[in-house]
This record gives sequence, C-alpha cells and structure tokens, in this order.
Amino acid sequence: MIDTNIKILPQHEQYLQKIGASAEELGYPAYVVGGYVRDLLLNRPCKDIDIVCVGSGIELAQASAKKINGASRVSFFKNFGTAQFKMDDVELEFVGARKESYQRDSRKPIVEDGTLEDDQNRRDLTINALAISLNKGDYGSIIDPFNGLTDLQNKIIRTPLDPNITFSDDPLRMMRAIRFATQLRFHIEADTLQAISDNKQRIKIISYERISSELNKIILSPKPSIGFKLLFKTGLLHYFFSEMTALQGVEWRNSIGHKDNFYHTLEVLDNVALMSKDLWLRWAAILHDIAKPPTKRFHPDSGWTFHGHEVLGAKMTTRIFRRLKLPMDERMKFVQKMVALHLRPIALTKGDVTDSAIRRLLFDAGDDVDELMILCQADITSKNEAKVKRYLENYEMVKIKLKEVEEKDRLRNWQPPISGDIIMETFGIRPSRKVGDIKKAIREAILDGDIPNEYEAAFEFMLKKGKELGLETGE
Ligand code: CTP
Repeated sequence: MIDTNIKILPQHEQYLQKIGASAEELGYPAYVVGGYVRDLLLNRPCKDIDIVCVGSGIELAQASAKKINGASRVSFFKNFGTAQFKMDDVELEFVGARKESYQRDSRKPIVEDGTLEDDQNRRDLTINALAISLNKGDYGSIIDPFNGLTDLQNKIIRTPLDPNITFSDDPLRMMRAIRFATQLRFHIEADTLQAISDNKQRIKIISYERISSELNKIILSPKPSIGFKLLFKTGLLHYFFSEMTALQGVEWRNSIGHKDNFYHTLEVLDNVALMSKDLWLRWAAILHDIAKPPTKRFHPDSGWTFHGHEVLGAKMTTRIFRRLKLPMDERMKFVQKMVALHLRPIALTKGDVTDSAIRRLLFDAGDDVDELMILCQADITSKNEAKVKRYLENYEMVKIKLKEVEEKDRLRNWQPPISGDIIMETFGIRPSRKVGDIKKAIREAILDGDIPNEYEAAFEFMLKKGKELGLETGE
C-alpha cells in the first residue's frame, strides 16, 4: 500500500520550506516534481530534487540559495532556463514550467513557458509526473492529474498522454519505461507496451551513450532478465544489440537441438546478479556466449559444437563495447578476459582436477579468478535439476582445490622467480630469443609442477636449460 502521507526527510524539508517561502515572495507557484516524488512514495532514497515553478527557475534558485545556509553557488543555463545548486549531498534543480512540442527527427523540443499542467503533460510516465505543492494553502499536497498514485500502487508503467506521442517525442522514454519496469518490478500497461513495439524504430535518433546508460541501469537491477525480455519482445533490442538477439532460437537437426542461448544467457545474467553487483561481471555474463551463433556447426556424430566461441567472443567484446560507447579501458579488458576464460573452470569439473590445471587457471586469471569462478558457477544451467546439482557439487570441489593450490603456491599475479635480467647476466648474453625460451621453460616447469615455485629450484633449472641450448655460464 502506498502511503500518501508523505514523509520528507527533515533536512530536505528545511530546504523545501525555504524554497516555498522564496517562491511566495517572487509570486511563482513552485512544486517538487518527477523522480523525487516517485521515490519518496516508494521509500527509495533520492538525492536529486527537481523544482518546477510557474515563473523563472533561475530567479527562484537564486532567491532560495540566499535563504539556505551552506548552499553552493548557483549555476545556471540561461538558454534552457535551468539553474541548480547543491546543499550537503543533495542536488536541487530549478526550472520554469514548460510546454514542449517536438519535431519528428529530433529529441530537441520547441519549448515555451507553460503551466504546471503543461509541465506534467510533457513527462514520460504517470509515476514520474506527480508533483508536491510548496505553496501556502496546500503546502505538501500531491498534485496527480494522471492517477500516478494509483499506478504506483498497482505497479503500473504507463505514459500520461497517448504513448505514441510520448515515445515518438522522445524515444529514449521507451528505454526508460522498460528500465523502470525492471528496477521497480512494475508491469507495463498493454497500450504503452504496444506503443514501444510500434515506435521501436524511433530509437535510431537516440545516441548510443544514452541507450547504454539506460541499458546499464537495467543490467544493474536485481533481476536484469526482466528488462532484456521486454527489450526483445518489443523489438527494441534488435536496433542496438543484434548480436544478442542472434542468440535466440533453437535449431534442430537429426532430432538433435541445442540450448536457446538467449534465454540461457539471461539465466546466467540473473545468476550472476544474485552473487555480484559488479556491472562489468554482469556484462561478461551477457557476452560469454555471444559468439555461439557465428561458431555454430553441426556434426552428424557429435551434434552441435561452438568451437572457439570464447576466443571470438572476446574479439566481439571490443566491437560491441565500441559501438555501445561503453568504456574502452581496463573494464572492457576485464570483460574480454572473462569471456575468453569462461570455459576453463567448468572444464576442470569434467575430469580429474590436477594441480597443474589449477595452477594454470590461477596464472591466467590472476586477480580476477574470484569473478571468473562466479561467472562459471552462474553458467551452470540446465532444465535437469539433478544435473545442475551434480555439476555444482563438482564445482565446489574445484573451488576447494583452487584455494588449496593458491595457499600452497601463491600463484595469483605471479611472476616467475627468475627474470630475463638474471638469465642474461648468468649466461653473459644480450636480449635474444634464447632468453625468452628459457623464461618460458621455467614458467611451464613451475606450472606443470615439475619444479617448485622457488628461486633456487628455478635457478638450477635455468642452468640446465641453458646448457641444453649450448650456453655457458660466466664462471
Ligand atoms: N523525464 C522525462 N523524459 C525523459 C527523462 C526525464 O519526462 N526522457 C522527466 C521525468 O518526469 C523524470 C524527470 O524528468 O522523473 C527527471 O528525470 P531524471 O532525473 O533523468 O530521472 P528520474 O525519473 O529522476 O530517475 P533516475 O534518477 O532513476 O534516472
């Protein structure tokens, strides 16, 4: 039950009363609108307060900041008529009530001064169009022309006006509708959902930065598959992430089918979301099988294979990150590494887990081994519960073994005990292929467990290897 006896935090109440007093002095009726009101009613924390006044938002911001002790300097954009200042960790944003009209090929509206009602009309969703009055007479009351309160109560996502107009005006709102449905676990009302399907091609005028910012909010939700299923069902996903929609579907040959990799990916993503809040690990879940469609082959004896999908998947990660304007730095590299290594821990559950296989995994995954283990555990999905249970039990064994080997050998972020400099100095040689060969041989010998991970043993091994290569020590 939504409690409409709103309980504004006392520190926020202080500012709002002063803003109300300034508004009265200026003769500009003022209201809190949008996300803050929604979150207040849902008991979600919110630190951005949007104020709309029927008058100049810049003047109201300046007058209010003067009254509030400790307010930051007001920054404003004359062209947009917006102004903002900070108070503690709260961001207060002011704007004059607006009426907007849009042209077909742009997200930039033609803006005119308007009433509170005009301003509420131009908003994306009924639950985001609620206002709280800051004016004498009805201070604190909720103004709800579109039954946003009922929609909050019934967990409904709906546009205030005809959804075709709202979405066509600003197609990003289609992503926002799905994002809120996912974050809040709300249901998108039928006409609104239909309008997303009907207007999906309008997403083309939205920049990838904005699309990805909404997509990341979907991914960071408690159950991201809700959003992806809606993006898929409405057809929006096809416009910006066709590699992912290509995962959907099952092909049969000789009565042999394979998994539907789209729904499998979503299961893995939800599983990761239960274990980690890390956005990039969640991206790794989304991309772990992304190269399955292009690597898919059918062999009459062995059925479907996806050989090399982890290698191609790591390559595709770069392309997808670049297109979606996601960061091209170490965060992308992390996702690539997870995609490239995602089969390794699982492979260990299938045979005898040797120390050397574990050592290699630790060496290759380095500091990211814990994240890799989460991803691979999440990847264990099947309709057959007994199978999942058995795999998970094996997987626990791998985890235990990993811990044991790690404690024994300390291989995470490991550097072999003999450097190239030591090799060159010992044999009196310059940088050359032989130095690399000896270094590699030492590393392999340690990873294979032929020699212990210690300086003396590695030094002895180096002497032996050097001799084999015809090198002599300076002694
Ligand atoms: N809004 C809109 N159309 C958009 C973006 C925003 O109508 N494309 C309106 C909504 O009324 C929204 C308000 O502007 O509540 C503030 O937008 P924003 O701060 O971006 O989002 P919030 O709704 O506050 O939610 P969040 O902070 O989770 O993004």
